[in-house]
Amino acid sequence: MLSQSIYRVLYEHCILSILTLFLLAAVANAFYELAINPLKKYKGPKFAAISRIPFFYHATRGNLNKWISDVHVKYGDVVRVAPDELSYSSGEAWKDIYGHVAAGKKPTNKDLRFYGPTFNGAPDIIRANGPDHARFRRNFSNAFSDKALREQQPLISRYVDMFIDCLNTIIQKDPNRKIEMVRLFNLTTFDIMGDLTFGESLDLLAGTGDDNWVTAIFASVKANSLRRMGRYVTWMAFFIQQFIPKTLKIKTLIHYSSCMKRVDKRIDASHESERPDIWGLVMNQKEELLLSKPEMYANSQIFMLAGTETTATALSGLTYQLLMNPEKLETITKEVRETFQNDSDIGLIALGQLKYLNACIDEGLRIYPPVPIGLPRLAPSEGMIVCGQYVPEKTAVSVNQWATYRNPRNFHRPNEFLPERWLSSEFGSDNKSAFQPFSFGPRNCLGKNLAYHEMRIILAKFLYNFDLTLAPESVGWAEQKVYGLWQKNKLMVQLKPRTA
Ligand code: HEM
Repeated sequence: MLSQSIYRVLYEHCILSILTLFLLAAVANAFYELAINPLKKYKGPKFAAISRIPFFYHATRGNLNKWISDVHVKYGDVVRVAPDELSYSSGEAWKDIYGHVAAGKKPTNKDLRFYGPTFNGAPDIIRANGPDHARFRRNFSNAFSDKALREQQPLISRYVDMFIDCLNTIIQKDPNRKIEMVRLFNLTTFDIMGDLTFGESLDLLAGTGDDNWVTAIFASVKANSLRRMGRYVTWMAFFIQQFIPKTLKIKTLIHYSSCMKRVDKRIDASHESERPDIWGLVMNQKEELLLSKPEMYANSQIFMLAGTETTATALSGLTYQLLMNPEKLETITKEVRETFQNDSDIGLIALGQLKYLNACIDEGLRIYPPVPIGLPRLAPSEGMIVCGQYVPEKTAVSVNQWATYRNPRNFHRPNEFLPERWLSSEFGSDNKSAFQPFSFGPRNCLGKNLAYHEMRIILAKFLYNFDLTLAPESVGWAEQKVYGLWQKNKLMVQLKPRTA
C-alpha cells in the first residue's frame, strides 16, 4: 500500500518535472526568438515568430496563401512568417532574392526543406544548386530556345486542333453536355509536353492513353507539400508519413514510374528518332554535359510536372475569370475572331501581337498565379541585403505571389480581373515589377516562352471556335485550397459552336 503511494507520488513528480521543463524550454525559446534572434526586428504575428505551428496549420488547411496575404496587409511588405523565415511582397524583393548577384557575392540557394529530395536521389533542374544546375540549364536551354519553339509550332498546333476536335465531338453527341475544362486543358498540355519530352504522343486527347498520370501529378505535389513538415521538424517525419493517404502515395509512384518507363523507351528508340524532342537534344550533347540515366528520370518528372499542371492551371483560371466577366470575354473573343479569317491562320507570330488577349493572359496569371506561394531561398553564409535590410545567414526568404499580386500597395483594385491594367495609363501606379509569375533571375522558368505560346494558341482557338457559358455549379470555382499548387475544382462549361 505504502510502496504504491510512493510510486504514485514519484510518477506525478516526474510528469510535473517534464511539464515544467517543456514550459521552461518554451519560455526560453520565446524569449530568444522575440528578444535575441537578429530577425526580431521584422514584424509579424508573435506566435509565428516563436514557432512554425501557424505556418504548418495554414499549410495543412490549404490556405497558406491567404494567411500570408493577410499578414502582409496587416504588417507590411516584409513579414516574419516563421522563426527563421521571411516573406516579401514587393518588386524589389524579386531582384534581391532571386536575381543575379554582384561579382564576389554568394547567391542564395534553394531551401531544400521546402523542395524535398528527388524520388530517386539524383539531382534535377529545380532542386540542384551550383554546377549541377548550370549543367542542366545549359543542356535544356536549347530545347526551349526561340528556334526550338518555331520548330515545335506544328506539333503544338496539332494537339490544339485535337483539343478542338475533341470538344466538337462531345457537343455533337450531346449539345447540352457540360464539359469539365480543367481536365481538357490538362489532357492538352500533357499531350504536348509528353511529345516534346519523350518524342511520342501520350494519346490522351485521342482517348486511348493512360490518364491516371494526369491526376498523379497533382497528387505527387500534394504529398510532397504534406511531407514538407517532416523536413522542417525532422522528428515529425515518421508520423506525417503515416498520415499521408495511401491513394496519394500510390499516385505519386504512378507518376514516377510512368516517367521512368517513357525515358527508357525513348533511350531505346534513340537511333530511330529524328524528332527535335528534349531527350533527342540532350542525348546529342557534348560529353561533359551529358546526363546520367537517374538524372534523366528525375528531370523528366520535372518536365511533366512543371510543363503541364502550371499551364493548364493558368488556362483554367483565365477561362473562369473571362466567364465571370462577360464584357471582357466579349472583347477578347471579338479580337480573336476579327484578327483571324480561318482557324488555320492562328499562329505563333500573330498571336504575340494580340494586345487584349495577351493582357488577359497576364491578368489571369496575376489574379490566379499557378505558383501561388513563395519558393524559399536560403540567405548565404555572409547574409544578404533584401529591400535595404540585412538578413542573416540561413534565413529562408521568398516572394509569395498570391500575397504580392493581391496587395493593394502593388496593384490598384487588386481583387478585380482587369486586363486593362496592362494596357491603360489609368493603372500607371501599379507596381508591374512585382509581377513575376515565372519567377526571376538565373533560375526563372525555362519554359516561359513555351508556356505563353501554348496559352495563346489554346485560348485563341478555343474562343475562335466556341461560345462559352459557365455552368451555375461552377460559380465560386476560384475558392480553392493550395497544397504547393492549387487543388482545382471541376470547371463546368457549356459550349456552343460559334455564332456568326
Ligand atoms: C503558366 C505556366 C508556367 C508557370 C507559371 C511556371 C512557373 C515557374 C516558376 C515560378 C519557376 C521557378 C521555380 C523555382 O524557383 O523553384 C519555374 C521553373 C521552371 N519551369 Fe516553369 N512555369 C510554367 C510553365 C512551364 C513549362 C511549360 C515548362 C516546360 C517544361 C516549364 C519548365 C520549368 C523548368 C525546367 C523550371 C526550372 C528552371 C531552373 O531552375 O533553372 N515551366 N516555372
